[in-house]
Amino acid sequence: MKRIFIVKSSTAFTAPIFNIRSLASSSGRLDIICRCILNAFFIDKDMFRRNVVFYGVLEGPPDPPKTIVVDGSSIDSFLLDEVWVANVILDLMHGKYFKGFNILKMSFNSLVNLIRASGAKLLYLHEDGIPIENYGFELGADYCFILGDQIGLDRDSEKLLISMGVPMVSLGRIAYLSSQCIWLVNNFMDGLGFE
Ligand SMILES: C[S@@+](CC[C@H](N)C(=O)[O-])C[C@H]1O[C@@H](n2cnc3c(N)ncnc32)[C@H](O)[C@@H]1O
Repeated sequence: MKRIFIVKSSTAFTAPIFNIRSLASSSGRLDIICRCILNAFFIDKDMFRRNVVFYGVLEGPPDPPKTIVVDGSSIDSFLLDEVWVANVILDLMHGKYFKGFNILKMSFNSLVNLIRASGAKLLYLHEDGIPIENYGFELGADYCFILGDQIGLDRDSEKLLISMGVPMVSLGRIAYLSSQCIWLVNNFMDGLGFE
């Protein structure tokens, strides 16, 4: 069973024009995407989840949209290190190849439609949704969790999800960081018995 995460960043830069040494301030908050990637995959520094696929949709300047894809089933090397992840993204943006990591010219709308067509069940994470423990998860199904960035999911994307009938699920009334939500979802799904 696959566990899929989509994080949409309205600000993260879409070209290698940022400085790794001051990532948060020079990249339109690509650091959030890097942190989300680490939380999506790592259990400890030597163990990462092979059943996770992560999509980071970047919509900042200068060439939106770009979608970073990280597929746990095909990664060869992976370090629990935000700067290392940022360097991989920089390399991808320069056109280099890195097994298990990819960057596509794909929009949020196309991505969501593609994942839905694959049969995975979409869930929109939002604090006002139904409590995640009340949602009826089916063992054996693939789930795709959709999250916003530091300012939340933009209105058009939210409208799209609502028009598609995507359920909104909550991790509680507190608005957590996107990376913390991913950690909480992984912990919750582990508890349900999803591999
Ligand atoms: C830092 S939060 C965004 C906060 C932003 N101020 C807002 O009002 O949307 C980033 C993302 O994490 C997810 N999120 C945060 N807290 C959550 C919660 N308690 N339950 C479910 N999802 C949550 C949402 O997808 C949100 O877009």
